Amino acid sequence: MECENRAQLVNRQVHDLKYSSLQLRFTRIGVHLKTLQLKNFKNYSELNLEFPARITFLLGLNGTGKTNLLDAIYYLSATKSFSNLTDSQIIRHGEDNFFIRGMFDHSGNRSEVFGQLQSGRKKIFRVDSKDYERISDHIGKYPVVLISPLDVDLVKESSEARRKFFDQVIAQLDHAYLEKLLEYHHTLKQRNALLKLFAEKNYTDLEMIELYDQQLIRTGQLIYKKRKTFATEFLPVFNTSYHQLVNRPEMASLTYTSEVESINYEDGLKRSWKKDLALQRTTFGVHRDDYMFGFAHGDLKRLGSQGQQKSFLVAIKLAQANIIRSHLGFSPILLFDDIFDKLDDTRITRLLKIISADSYGQVLITDAGPERTLALVKELGILCDVLRVDNGSIHTKAFD
Ligand SMILES: Nc1ncnc2c1ncn2[C@@H]1O[C@H](COP(=O)(O)OP(=O)(O)O)[C@@H](O)[C@H]1O
Ligand SMILES: [Mg+2]
Repeated sequence: MECENRAQLVNRQVHDLKYSSLQLRFTRIGVHLKTLQLKNFKNYSELNLEFPARITFLLGLNGTGKTNLLDAIYYLSATKSFSNLTDSQIIRHGEDNFFIRGMFDHSGNRSEVFGQLQSGRKKIFRVDSKDYERISDHIGKYPVVLISPLDVDLVKESSEARRKFFDQVIAQLDHAYLEKLLEYHHTLKQRNALLKLFAEKNYTDLEMIELYDQQLIRTGQLIYKKRKTFATEFLPVFNTSYHQLVNRPEMASLTYTSEVESINYEDGLKRSWKKDLALQRTTFGVHRDDYMFGFAHGDLKRLGSQGQQKSFLVAIKLAQANIIRSHLGFSPILLFDDIFDKLDDTRITRLLKIISADSYGQVLITDAGPERTLALVKELGILCDVLRVDNGSIHTKAFD
């Protein structure tokens, strides 16, 4: 019986896989960052850079500013850094403000994105000199997909890292999702503050809790549905990328789990009231959802080698790029930070071949080992620009 189920599952996945490859409409149209200007962004005091080529390699020793440069591009897209630094920590030491400016070509239309932080003031974000009323409205307009050594947190860390990742992926595609998510977290914060207050005052008003519950149910159910739909859509696209990268018809799995699935949302919240009041936080709801990654040998976290985990994570990001392209009709910018770190040479070669294909848009890749990268670029005949990063400055034509 178990065997039969497994065979059915594999059949379905193979079917999904074929279907997904048909579904993806590959297009050369993408969002392309043409120029980048930085002022006092981390270790860059001033920088003016052009990115004429589709693929750009940024090579340089450790600590010279390769990751910071990708972070600046990420910032233009996400309105925040991907490092754990706060906005004010991004300002170059000893200065009191930073700005970043990027000129994007978006399917033939040019636009300038500008972000600035003056210490102690509100952050400014504008496109073509027009300020956003809400900075979050910028999310998803200039999508990027970042692949970094920090991705390993997706496997190693708690469910929060995985939720955050998938939330960010869905939010880039679906602004309504982002709004619901912000609303949900706002209500959650208020409900938790109320629980704390009740504990302090030694008093409880269940009607008030119920009011917040109704709000949580409304937004939470929507979030659950969107996450569920997205996980189903993501898996076959992911498997296509995974096969391309590992060059084996190995099936991987992604299981989305939510406790709101097995019990009515309202009942779930009510049943947790006692516990919530004791712990002074909300212990039921979609803020506790998780995603589980599985590969051929089982649970990726427990049984995957470092190399297998890395391949899996790279494939997840390639799938993210493919999903963005099929939803929005254009390719996001791919940012690969230290990608050569844990992949073996065969995988690196495959990866470079994959991203050299026309179906991907602009790609920026950093590496600390110039010889290895230059040799591979030459061997594969990749058309690209190679820049040398050197302590907060960047040199063109720095390599033969
Ligand atoms: N706010 C800041 N002001 C000045 N330097 C900074 C700031 N934030 C980070 N740095 C420095 O930037 C340097 C380069 O970092 P990074 O881009 O991670 O290098 P790479 O990726 O090339 O190894 C680090 O030495 C770090 O100390
Ligand atoms: Mg780095």
